[in-house]
Amino acid sequence: MKTTLTVIKADIGSIGGHLRPSRRLLEHVAQVVASCNNTLIDHHIGYTGDDIAILMTHTRGIGDEEVHKLAWDAFVSGTAVAKEEGLYGAGQDLLKDSFSGNVRGLGPAVAEMEIDERPNEPFLLFAADKTDPGAYNLPLFLTFADVMNTPGLILSPNLTRGFRWIVMDVNYAEGDRVIELVTPEEIYDLAALLRDNQRFVVESVWSRATGEQAVAVATSRLHNIAGKYTGKDDPVMLVRTQMNFPATGEVLSPYAIGHYVGGGMRGSHQMPLMPVPLFTSTSYFDGPPLVSCTAFCVHNAALTEPCDAFAHPFWDEVRATVSRKAIDMRRQGFSGAAMLPMAELEYTGVMDKLARLEKRFIVRTKELAAA
Ligand code: F6R
Ligand code: MG
Ligand code: MG
Repeated sequence: MKTTLTVIKADIGSIGGHLRPSRRLLEHVAQVVASCNNTLIDHHIGYTGDDIAILMTHTRGIGDEEVHKLAWDAFVSGTAVAKEEGLYGAGQDLLKDSFSGNVRGLGPAVAEMEIDERPNEPFLLFAADKTDPGAYNLPLFLTFADVMNTPGLILSPNLTRGFRWIVMDVNYAEGDRVIELVTPEEIYDLAALLRDNQRFVVESVWSRATGEQAVAVATSRLHNIAGKYTGKDDPVMLVRTQMNFPATGEVLSPYAIGHYVGGGMRGSHQMPLMPVPLFTSTSYFDGPPLVSCTAFCVHNAALTEPCDAFAHPFWDEVRATVSRKAIDMRRQGFSGAAMLPMAELEYTGVMDKLARLEKRFIVRTKELAAA
């Protein structure tokens, strides 16, 4: 029996700006999903910042219409509750009016994989808020391609065979533009792509030893769907761990860096990514961008209870460092590296100003200078 893990997430409204969904909204979404238990074998609902993630297990394969519709219906129905409560941004990630076979291209982010369950099947669900899918590029590179992070790459014969990467060019809006690379042979080519978090995004990673899928990332960019900026994408990701894959600790350790990612205030800044406990809301400067990690084992498609991977006291020290990095970056306000490049800004204000000022520029000629 093959098991499918599907996680679909959306921001359908939150309290106090973009902080977190209300309890009533979460309970409502949970009720709608629980009422569809004929389709699913198991499910789990969580939130990170203002995003609600519905993790579902079933045997229907990836891209299944009934599973996707179930999540879409839960978000549509939740939006009515969010509107009733007057939550901010009610229904903001539901960019299309009607469901058409699959949530891809409708606004909600989706990551899923169909697996042959191993006798023990540990996996991690990452959920990030106030950032884009490229936020996972560096952690995945370090986990699957850097022996300084992952001793398993030299210790375990199966990891030594390396990994196959599918990377997507998310600037291309006409369809899925992807490239396949293998590590360790093409490690520098991979790095050359992954340095550009806003354009090239890891979609999936596969074991070369067994052919099994290790990683699935939600790569949707909301501005490609809406044609304009509608908020940060806030990606979810599934990662299988142990045995033929990196260990859970090797997957978690890159998040100790608190690397700078696109996100934070008005989706237009560079801020360090903070690993947070489950059910953390957003705060400082509409950030800092946050990432949670829920660990599970799945057996015959039934989930164990969740374990909060970033709740351990070790991460308190990391969070303090990330807070300092965030404040340091904010000291330089709008200047240079603190803000995202022009094409990634979420509002048109800067463009409008530049267009208006354009007419006032003069080219100083020798004659003008003499005059
Ligand atoms: C992401 C998020 C931000 C906002 C963005 C626009 O979760 O909350 O990306 O969507 O700052 O916010 P508004 O529409 O309130 O200006
Ligand atoms: Mg939001
Ligand atoms: Mg969000």
